[in-house]
Amino acid sequence: MIKWNDKYSVGISVIDDEHKKFIDIINKAIITKEHNDNPEELKEVLYRVTMYAIKHFATEENYMIEFNYPEYQHHKEEHDDFAIKAITYSKRVADGDSHFTNEVLEYLKQWLVNHIQITDRQYIVCFNENGLK
Ligand code: FEO
Repeated sequence: MIKWNDKYSVGISVIDDEHKKFIDIINKAIITKEHNDNPEELKEVLYRVTMYAIKHFATEENYMIEFNYPEYQHHKEEHDDFAIKAITYSKRVADGDSHFTNEVLEYLKQWLVNHIQITDRQYIVCFNENGLK
């Protein structure tokens, strides 16, 4: 499970709110795995993780484009890589590879906490300078 911590905050309420929802959905995937190894339910919850990730990435990328953020391309590549992996892993879990599920959930958790503490923090100054706080 991931517990929200102030060290995850980027100090921008719209982004923090989305990160909190992102964490909630990953936690739901972890709970689903703990209580039920049903491939269909795991597939469904991983699908929700992927769809929410894509929605959140679009939020950030739209601001980056609007604010001419210089690291946009690099940041987008990280988002795209995550989305492709999440879709690929979800398919493996849906195919009944339940041993793989723990590895998938660990990947999702680690990716998110690393990304929001490193890559996302890099746009704070740019976003703040453009009035987003
Ligand atoms: Fe909050 Fe770049 O994802």
